[in-house]
Formats: sequence, structure tokens, C-alpha cells
Amino acid sequence: MKITIFGTGYVGLVTGACLADVGHDVICMDVDHGKIEKLRNGHIPIYEPGLEPIVKHNVEAGRLSFTTDPEEAVRHGLIQFIAVGTPPDEDGSADLQYVTAVARTIGQCMDDYRVVVDKSTVPVGTGDKVSAAVRSELDKRGLELEFDVVSNPEFLKEGAAISDFMKPDRIVVGTDSERARELLRETYYPFNRNHDRMIFMDIRSAELTKYAANAMLATKISFMNEIANLSERLGADIEAVRRGIGSDPRIGYHFIYPGCGYGGSCFPKDVQALARTARSCDYDAKLLNAVEDVNLAQKHVLFDKISHYFQGNLEGKVIALWGLAFKPNTDDMREASSRTLMESLWKAGAKVQAFDPEAMAETQRIYGDQEGLALSGTKEQALKGADVLVICTEWKEFRSPDFASIAAVLSEPVVFDGRNLYEPEMLDRHGLIYYAIGRGHNQFRAG
Ligand code: UDX
Repeated sequence: MKITIFGTGYVGLVTGACLADVGHDVICMDVDHGKIEKLRNGHIPIYEPGLEPIVKHNVEAGRLSFTTDPEEAVRHGLIQFIAVGTPPDEDGSADLQYVTAVARTIGQCMDDYRVVVDKSTVPVGTGDKVSAAVRSELDKRGLELEFDVVSNPEFLKEGAAISDFMKPDRIVVGTDSERARELLRETYYPFNRNHDRMIFMDIRSAELTKYAANAMLATKISFMNEIANLSERLGADIEAVRRGIGSDPRIGYHFIYPGCGYGGSCFPKDVQALARTARSCDYDAKLLNAVEDVNLAQKHVLFDKISHYFQGNLEGKVIALWGLAFKPNTDDMREASSRTLMESLWKAGAKVQAFDPEAMAETQRIYGDQEGLALSGTKEQALKGADVLVICTEWKEFRSPDFASIAAVLSEPVVFDGRNLYEPEMLDRHGLIYYAIGRGHNQFRAG
């Protein structure tokens, strides 16, 4: 099958590479010449385990190529995937200008039937806008070509995107066209052979499915963070509570880890956009608003604990920070809790010595010469000359550090853990004071 992907960001690149890997003939198009040039030379602009070899292999095999030429792109694929960004507007709604620009490009260049598949996360009703944009360009050209519009949301997790794509738990396809449905079935056949993973529905339901999935996951996290905050005040241990409730299969163990808040490119943006959509149809989505509020507050919890420990005086304190990415196995720092923490620390006059296994270049890009930030080459180096240690991301290499040397190096033997990586007794044995999230009375001392 000939396939075109618009947008070589995270979703577009993973989709293009994986579809080529199962034998499709794929062109990825981007308006960013620099990016396309780099991709042609085998340079992958993002960190995603397993992506680089797949891209290289399929480029060499002649199944995957890159272009900046819209005409070439539209001519190539019977299936045209739109995988461009939908950044939030100032009011939190998704900005659709890039999606509709691609739809117009398709209308301007198509010379035969095309299936226009929206993979970007877009508000309910975007399918109609895409359709209208293609149609109006065709009208301008005086053409009456047929096309179909499909909503096919992605459910990829950063860091596990290749296996999520190759072994999906579901492939949601929203369309009212039988022809498009069969073409999508053929496109996804290699991923669907053993078990039928395809779920067909109307376009609006598919668009809403994506938001509902992310909002549900974000709700689980904010719920657990709320119970964790309660645990601190009640003298309970959230880790025991988590295991206690997770054993009920109706609740389940997944995605109920308390922490210093969720980040990333999806949850914050999608929860806001769905709440905004609700407002636009005169519905006050109280739960969604609360999920967002709880998360914003949770991103301040570590700072509050640190500030409380130092009795509000952080001037000149040196904080070692382990973990900058919004989660492990990525260098992505969008909406990361580490950023809220660092920015609060700087405002309070503290210095940060930060280490992350992958996100050092990204930190440098975002914060550059920020006063009060020192980037450390290793986690041990970040501790040198520091007063206390804070952990924001649960990278594997932070899981069993040398507690004795941490206790020896820090000027104050205190660890603030935003991801509940350790057993409190373990740190206690090494003479470390341990503040985690939601773990009993010692975690919260009303000031
Ligand atoms: C998410 C969805 O999982 C994916 O299905 C969707 O397509 C895009 O958004 P991603 O943003 O890559 O994927 O990250 P995810 O692994 O879901 O983690 C999101 C955030 O939630 C991270 O900051 C993580 O630390 C936090 N989290 C996750 C928790 O705080 N507790 C949990 O139990 C799980």
C-alpha cells in the first residue's frame, strides 16, 4: 500500500517507520527542510528506543523516504495520514491550523481518490473541518474528486512507542465510508493478524475516544495523588493503600502510582482541551477541571516539602536533582514536574545541580545559561557540594543508589522523592531522612 505521512514529529515518524517496516511504501513529508535533510542522512531528531534502526533499515530497503514537496507527497499515497502538531491555544483548546493546512494541501494537489486519515489528537468535529478544507480546495480547482476522511487516533506511549505500534491493544478507526474502512483494514492487516484489534465506529466517537482514554488515565493519577496527600495528613501509607486497592480487578494495578504530578505532551494538553470542548457545548466538566487542578497543585508538592524543611529559607541552598524528563526512557521535558520545581527553587534563591540520563541536552536547550542551574555529568556529580537530594523521574539507574555515600556527601542527609522509589526503612538505616509522596505522618508537618 502506498502511504503518505504529513508531519515527522513523534507520532508521524513512528507511524511511518512502523508501516514501512511491515512492507508498505511510505513517504514522510514535513515543511521543515532542515529536519527532512537530517532524516535523509539517518539522523533521528527525537530519542525513542528502537526507532533509529527501523528508520535506517527501511530507508535502505527503499520503503521509507522523506520529502518537503507537498505535490510529491499527495501524489504518492492512497492513504494520507495527518500527524502534525495540535499545540494548545492560549485558552487551552487545540490549535488546528496545521491540521487544516495539510487538508488544504491535499485538496490542492490530489488527482485521484484519497483517504485522509487524521492521527493527530484533535477536538471532536475536526473530521468535518478536514473534509470541508479538502472539498473547498477541490472546488477552487473545479474538480469533483472523491475522498474519505477517517479518524484514527494514536495511543503510543513515549519510550514504548514502537512496541505499542507493532502490538497495539486496539486500532480505533472512525469513518462512515465502507471503502475507507476496507483500505484501513488492509493497511493495518499486519498488526491485526492474530487477534482482531480493530474497532470501527463513527468519526466523532473515534475523536472522543482518544480524549476519553487520556482523561481517564489522568484521572486515575490525580485521584491517587489526592489520596496520597490525604494519607500524609492521616498517617497512612499510600503504597500500602495502592496495593490494597489495586488487587481489586475492577481497579487494577496499572496507572495508580502517586507522584509529583503527570507531565508530557498528552495528558495536560488533552485534559485541558476536553474541558474546553465541554465548555464550548455548555457543559461544565467538573471532574476534568478537578483532575487538572489537582495535577497543577501536585507539581508544587516537592517544593513545599523542601521549603518546609528549610523553614522557608532557601536562599543559597544547593539542591541536587535527579531526573528532568517527564518520565523515564525519554528526553522529553514538556510539562515535566522537574521544571515547576526548578523554577520555584530559583525564585526562592536556591541553586540546582541536575542530572538526567537522557535529557541533559534538552535541559540545556530550554534553560541555557539560567543562573542557578548547573548540569552534572553523572548522578554522583550532582550530589557534590549539595545540601539535599530531590528525585523527579523514576529512571532505573536511580532505583538502588549507594545510600551510604549519599548520606556522606550531602550536607543535610535528606532525600525528597517525588516518585516513591525506596522503602523508608532502607534510607533510615543509612541515616537518611526520607520525604516521599503520601507515606505516613513524617511526610507532612503542618507549618
Ligand atoms: C500518554 C498515554 O499513556 C498514551 O496512551 C497517549 O497516547 C499519550 O499520552 P505518554 O505521555 O507518553 O503517554 O506518557 P505516560 O507513560 O502515559 O505517562 C504520563 C505521565 O503520567 C508521566 O509524567 C508519568 O510520570 C505520570 N504517571 C503515570 C504517574 O504519575 N502515575 C502513574 O501511575 C502513571
